[in-house]
Amino acid sequence: MSAPPDGMTYADYLKLDTLLSAQQPRSDHHDEMLFIVIHQTKELWMKEMLHELRLAIALIEQDRYAEAYKAMARISRIQAVMTLSWDVLSTLTPVDYLKFRHVLGTASGFQSTQFREIEFRLGLKEPKFVSQYPDGSAERTMLEAALDEPSLREASLGALERAGFDLEDRSVDAISAAWLEVYRAPERWFELYELAEKLLDIDDAMVAWRQKHVLTVERIIGNKRGTGGSAGASYLRATLVELQGAVLAQPCRRSNTTALRRA
Ligand code: HEM
Repeated sequence: MSAPPDGMTYADYLKLDTLLSAQQPRSDHHDEMLFIVIHQTKELWMKEMLHELRLAIALIEQDRYAEAYKAMARISRIQAVMTLSWDVLSTLTPVDYLKFRHVLGTASGFQSTQFREIEFRLGLKEPKFVSQYPDGSAERTMLEAALDEPSLREASLGALERAGFDLEDRSVDAISAAWLEVYRAPERWFELYELAEKLLDIDDAMVAWRQKHVLTVERIIGNKRGTGGSAGASYLRATLVELQGAVLAQPCRRSNTTALRRA
């Protein structure tokens, strides 16, 4: 730990010179600033999410559940803020956006490396997304590491196995059967029960973020194609159907509701 330099200021500590000089609109249009700030704040929140996600995974692997839940609760709160911030962006009208959209060229959120890393570290490991980054690039190396390392989903399955559940081939059916036992006897499996609920919190929030993104995109570009080259809102809607709860917590969701039906 290094001692603070003499007379260190708020701006020094936060490197505000660097941070606040990174908003450089490419047009003269007033609203481009909002567009840049929203994207940059989301990237900063994603950075913090990854910081907590790595910690939560390591803690679960060591059976340190109370500490892991603290990190997971923080992730859910950040997700809530990120979802709410779409409302600020919704003040950008289609006419406003069209005035500067051309300056984006082919830039698109689709290329957000941190977003893919979050998906990978949560458990949605879709290797096809790695190939958009050049071989040997820092982004690709980082995403390949995230593909190889245990995700939150895998760490949670490890926790079930260490508690004595036989997940066989780790199929959705085998995992759901284990979570069902947990949901039927929450007092006995309290730590795992809490874990399932925390996974659901994060999963729900991820779905909510995606849904609000689609709504915002529909509102601002209607049925126009995306700057990243996709069909636009219809591509994003398809990812919702494909992914909804399917990755992290689908087995928990399934077991949770089955347990309720039989209660
Ligand atoms: C005017 C605002 C926005 C519009 C019109 C918009 C539009 C789109 C579209 C059409 C796509 C599909 C890929 C493409 O063809 O470009 C996309 C993907 C994406 N956007 Fe946005 N977006 C907006 C704001 C944001 C913001 C603020 C973020 C925050 C980081 C973001 C993050 C993403 C991500 C992560 C994807 C990839 C989603 C996936 O593949 O599941 N977008 N966006």
